[in-house]
Amino acid sequence: MLEIKNLRVEANGKEILKGVNLEIGEGEVHAIFGPNGSGKSTLLAAIMGLPPYEIKEGEIIFKGKLLNDLPVWKRAKLGIGLAFQNPPEVSLKMEKLLEKIGKNGLQEYVEKLNMKDYIKREINKGFSGGERKRAEILQIAAQKPDLLLLDEPESGVDMENIYIISKVINELLEKDKKIKERKKSAIIITHTGYVLDFIEAKLAHVMIDGRIICSGPPHEVLKNIKENGYEECKKCR
Ligand SMILES: Nc1ncnc2c1ncn2[C@@H]1O[C@H](COP(=O)(O)OP(=O)(O)OP(=O)(O)O)[C@@H](O)[C@H]1O
Ligand SMILES: [Mg+2]
Repeated sequence: MLEIKNLRVEANGKEILKGVNLEIGEGEVHAIFGPNGSGKSTLLAAIMGLPPYEIKEGEIIFKGKLLNDLPVWKRAKLGIGLAFQNPPEVSLKMEKLLEKIGKNGLQEYVEKLNMKDYIKREINKGFSGGERKRAEILQIAAQKPDLLLLDEPESGVDMENIYIISKVINELLEKDKKIKERKKSAIIITHTGYVLDFIEAKLAHVMIDGRIICSGPPHEVLKNIKENGYEECKKCR
C-alpha cells in the first residue's frame, strides 16, 4: 500500500528526515517510536503533503502512485487520512465538515465516540485535549481512508476513552475480518505503546534523528526501549 524510499525532507531550511525507508502492506498496522523531535510527525506530514515540509529526495508511493507532487486534497481522495498530534482549531462547525466528508454510517460513530454535543460546535474551539483527540478519530471515521496516519492517538486521552477510540480504530481497520481480507493499513505513532495493547500492530520502527534505525515486533521493541532507553537503540544501529 505504501512505499517510502530514501525520503529526505526539509522544513524552513532545516533537514528533518534524512533518508527514511518504509514499506507497509495492505492490511498492516505499523507503529513508530522515537524520542521527541526525531521526525515522526514530519514523516506523517510528508506522506499527507502538508506544508511547510518539502521533499528534497526520495519517493512516496501509495497504491503504486507517486505522491511527491500531489496536493493534500488529492492524497485525501486517494485514501490517506491523518489524525493530528495537535489538532488545530477551525472556524467551522464540526457537523458542517462531517457533512462535506459525507460518508454513510457516521451517526453510529458520533454515538460511539460520545461526540453528539461537540459536533454542534466549531472544530476544537474550547475542546479539552482528550476531546480534540476524539474529534480527530470521528473525522477520520467519516473519511474512512485506506491508510490511517495516527499521530499519538492516545496522548492525553483518559483510560476509558482510549478503549473507546481503539475500538473505533479497530473497526476502521477491519480487524473483525480475517487477516487476508483486511485492506486497511495504518501507521500509529506512540510514545507509551499503550494503544498497542488494544490495536495489534505487525511491526514497530524506531526513528532517531530523521532515520528509522531499527524495526521489530512491537512489544519486543517497546520492552527494549523501556529497559535500555533510546541511547542503546542508537548503539544497536
Ligand atoms: N515547520 C518547521 N520548521 C522548523 N523546524 C521544524 C518544523 N517542523 C518540525 N521541525 C523540527 O523538526 C524536528 C522534528 O519534528 P517532529 O514534529 O517531526 O518530531 P516528533 O518526532 O514528532 O516529536 P514529538 O515526539 O515531540 O512529537 C524538531 O526538531 C522540530 O522542531
Ligand atoms: Mg510528533
